Amino acid sequence: MRLWGRATAVRTRMLCLWLLVLGFALLTLALSDLFNRDRDQSHQKPGPPRRPLQRIPSAPDLEVIVDYRDPALELGIDLAPLKSLQEDQLLFVPSTQGTKNPPQKKGSYKVLLPGANKDTRVTAPPTHGEMGKAVRLHLAGTERDMELSAVQKYGFNEVVSEKISLHRRLPEARHPECLKEQYSESLPSASVVICFHDEAWSTLLRTVHSVLDTAPRQYLQEVLLVDDLSQHGHLKSVLSEYMSHLDGVRLIRSTRRLGVGGCRALGAARAAGEVLVFMDSHCECQKGWLEPLLERVAQDRTRVVSPIMDVIDWQTFQYNATQWPVRGVFDWRLDFHWESNPQVQDKAFQPLRSPALGGGAVAIDRHFFQSVGAYDPGMLLWGQEQIELSIRVWSCGGSMEVVPCSRVAHLERHHLPYRFPDQELLQRNKIRIADTWMDAYRKIFYRRDTLAHFIRQSESPNITERLRLKRSLGCRNFHWYLTTVYPQLYIPQDRPALSGELYNVGTGSCADYPRGQGLQGGAMNIAPCSGTGSQHCDLNSEFEVRWGPMGALCLDARGERVVLSPCPTHRPTTSGLQWKFIKLSGQLVHQQSQLCLEAVKEGGPPQSSPTAVNTNTGSLFLHPCTHHPRQQWHFEQLVAPKGA
Ligand SMILES: *[C@@H]1O[C@H](CO)[C@@H](O)[C@H](O)[C@H]1NC(C)=O
Ligand SMILES: *[C@@H]1O[C@H](CO)[C@@H](O)[C@H](O)[C@H]1NC(C)=O
Repeated sequence: MRLWGRATAVRTRMLCLWLLVLGFALLTLALSDLFNRDRDQSHQKPGPPRRPLQRIPSAPDLEVIVDYRDPALELGIDLAPLKSLQEDQLLFVPSTQGTKNPPQKKGSYKVLLPGANKDTRVTAPPTHGEMGKAVRLHLAGTERDMELSAVQKYGFNEVVSEKISLHRRLPEARHPECLKEQYSESLPSASVVICFHDEAWSTLLRTVHSVLDTAPRQYLQEVLLVDDLSQHGHLKSVLSEYMSHLDGVRLIRSTRRLGVGGCRALGAARAAGEVLVFMDSHCECQKGWLEPLLERVAQDRTRVVSPIMDVIDWQTFQYNATQWPVRGVFDWRLDFHWESNPQVQDKAFQPLRSPALGGGAVAIDRHFFQSVGAYDPGMLLWGQEQIELSIRVWSCGGSMEVVPCSRVAHLERHHLPYRFPDQELLQRNKIRIADTWMDAYRKIFYRRDTLAHFIRQSESPNITERLRLKRSLGCRNFHWYLTTVYPQLYIPQDRPALSGELYNVGTGSCADYPRGQGLQGGAMNIAPCSGTGSQHCDLNSEFEVRWGPMGALCLDARGERVVLSPCPTHRPTTSGLQWKFIKLSGQLVHQQSQLCLEAVKEGGPPQSSPTAVNTNTGSLFLHPCTHHPRQQWHFEQLVAPKGA
């Protein structure tokens, strides 16, 4: 029993030993196989291994990549998939040859252009010109071709922009009073939030440098650059690298496309300054722009303020100062305008209350911004978010003004470089504004934007959250806004059969005022009926024919030509009737002259323009009344009065 037991124990021990040896052998084999396979693979695939993304060792917090999954901020549309940072077209790789130390800030760097054998050695940080050179390698052809392709790509002449210093100083344009102005020593700190999406290199960097060069350090908490999923190569690691050399600049990247509102909300969530300054990524600041804004916000934390927005020409990059006074407004199509020389009582050189503010540069207290509902997360991509913010700020306890001692220049693009994934996106954003904020007045909007009307007929925006916010903040209604904040906006009457497109029976065309002819008025034409609401007019109970989405231009006569001119704010009662519409005959009679409105096609009278070729175009005249169909008119309402 004992012997047998010992023999078994020995055998078991031997077995264990064998198993151990076997296991070890197998492990060795497996490991060596693994190493060999690695070596084999690197033999099969010659060439440099994929370079890992370089992290900047000295500033680990510099760049934050945010997978912003706040469902409220997600866009309801499919956008281009995320391109990872490794898909850079241009890679900046710190040159570490002969040294184990992390690269010095002032070290030497290589610009690598995958696909090209060019290795350009430059000194870091790359100067503007050198970067330009590297980027220009992508462009071929003459200067003229380059300019054309740059304009196509960005909507402005980037070739000219590249030649201008990133530190250029704008000529002094401030009022002499401003130079004497003293500001409080203890202004709140500011976080400047700059969102960008595929911005050109030179304009983006000039914006950042301009802020750094003009904002006093004691008030500038930080510049927060927020990348809204840019695809252009130069905005990836090259930009990270460049920004790592700038003090006080943080770069945040979103892994999904947020749009302007969402992108700014992301920046706001990460900002540490007391005041947020949202700025477009193609701006230049005038000296002393920040202090006047901060002072106005410090005095009243519910005040939202804007500088005077000067203009940078898209072709020449010339700086053009905007005349004071100026304020922000919008029309009944919910389009934003800067209104120069507004009809307001107080023209003193003081901050001017403004019914709305543009999105180019706007300063708002950080806590107020959050408590008043940030930006509407339901707004898509781009467009009209500044109007939504404006109505909300005013209606929910805040105010807005333009501060005349602060100036920021904004690059006006020739056209927008983006192709919108959804052509009706602007209308969808406007529908949200109309349905959330405009109460019954929204009908006036839908008559002037029939595309929005038809979209609204087939789908409803989900504005549940915004209506809840409006209730919980106790916001006032749109009638209050119109009477208190923006009393200058004409409220159309839109009476049936006396408003709509003005259709001419004889020519089959509609009365038209070409877009871009200016807000001051000019000659009226006829053109094919658009059906979009852009030709909407309104014969009101004062016998004026009010034209356009602002309703500020009136049908008028200059000799026998029919023109638009600014409607008088207080029409003297002696002038009496302007126009009388005789429904039976369809005649529209100018009361002063007792002549009738007549449409004359091109090729008719000698006064007509020789350049027009479309036979549906022509001009409007006053002629002795006859019963000719060219003097027969209908007001055609495109949207039923009870609609929307
Ligand atoms: C500058 O502004 C004035 C008036 O606002 C305008 O007439 C002029 O064309 C502008 N110039 C440029 C270069 O934009
Ligand atoms: C609208 O949005 C709210 C929350 O934002 C959600 O609870 C609700 O289900 C949505 N309604 C519809 C019809 O999608």
